[in-house]
Amino acid sequence: MSEEDFTRLVEAEQRVEPRDWMPDGYRRTLIRQIAQHAHSEIIGMQPEANWISRAPSLRRKAILLAKVQDEAGHGLYLYAATETLGADREDLTTKLVEGRQKYSSIFNYPTLTFADVGVVGWLVDGAAICNQVPLCRTSYGPYARAMIRICKEESFHQRQGYELLMTMMRGTQAQRRMVQDAVNRWWWPSLMMFGPSDTESSNTEQSMAWRIKRHTNDELRQKFVDMSVPQAEALGVTFPDPELRWNAERGHHDFGEIDWDEFWSVVGGNGPCNEQRVAHRRKAHEDGQWVRDAAAAYASKRAEVVA
Ligand code: ACO
Repeated sequence: MSEEDFTRLVEAEQRVEPRDWMPDGYRRTLIRQIAQHAHSEIIGMQPEANWISRAPSLRRKAILLAKVQDEAGHGLYLYAATETLGADREDLTTKLVEGRQKYSSIFNYPTLTFADVGVVGWLVDGAAICNQVPLCRTSYGPYARAMIRICKEESFHQRQGYELLMTMMRGTQAQRRMVQDAVNRWWWPSLMMFGPSDTESSNTEQSMAWRIKRHTNDELRQKFVDMSVPQAEALGVTFPDPELRWNAERGHHDFGEIDWDEFWSVVGGNGPCNEQRVAHRRKAHEDGQWVRDAAAAYASKRAEVVA
């Protein structure tokens, strides 16, 4: 396949498959984005896993356990998708723990109360769905197919979060205060998940041309704000933004300016939990070395038997 065939294929909304010819930059961009996505799923297990042993009931514990396990599965599908592009999983993990590859800024914030579990489900997984549903139509086949299953599971995660919050809002005054406090802390970081504004986004233009990204960061952020406002009203909470209001002319909600210094500081490794998250991941990886060694020894013995 030539570069022209590749461009024609992508513009015709068809899928690029692992054995197809592709520009080096397309391959590099995909490995970067999918690896960052995979790392986010894996690091994203930590803030919620924090609450598994302290969930207030067996039912909540079972739900949370299932959700955190789903995130591990998402990470694994996504690492597998990078392997179809020639990336090496061990190398990606090394880059993550050495701070040479990014993961989502959102997972560098602490989960202080059980209401955070609900808010992470509602807002963080809600933002993830908003960003990821269009990726079911991304141009690279293995990534698009992985996203279909991931989005179904994310949708369950979002609903469990919202249901948890509904339950807390029907509880005591203290529980309602806890929910509002968690919303206040997670709202802005959730908006930051969509990445820098379009004017500052270095990758969007090329990624849109290659149909890797299907919408810009600001388009998706706006969609998320519009979708979240009625959900907040139904729940009985407010967002910490005095400039948030319906703009009939635009047909969208206006909202205040994001603190971009905070965003870049968290992306740069200086958020409240960056060090802790990466240290935990590094330790888990090192502690798992014996499992990888055992699996490799088993595979090589089996190969000898089969030969
Ligand atoms: N946290 C950390 N880094 C970010 C974030 C964020 N929220 N948003 C953007 N960045 C990084 C980009 O990776 C890029 O870094 P690089 O060029 O040094 O590699 C830089 O900031 C500039 O941003 P963009 O040019 O806008 O980057 P991109 O086109 O990749 O868009 C986006 C960023 C929207 C996150 C895109 O990569 C994407 O859609 N990824 C797939 C979804 C995903 O990763 N979600 C993770 C969280 S959801 C979850 O795990 C539950």
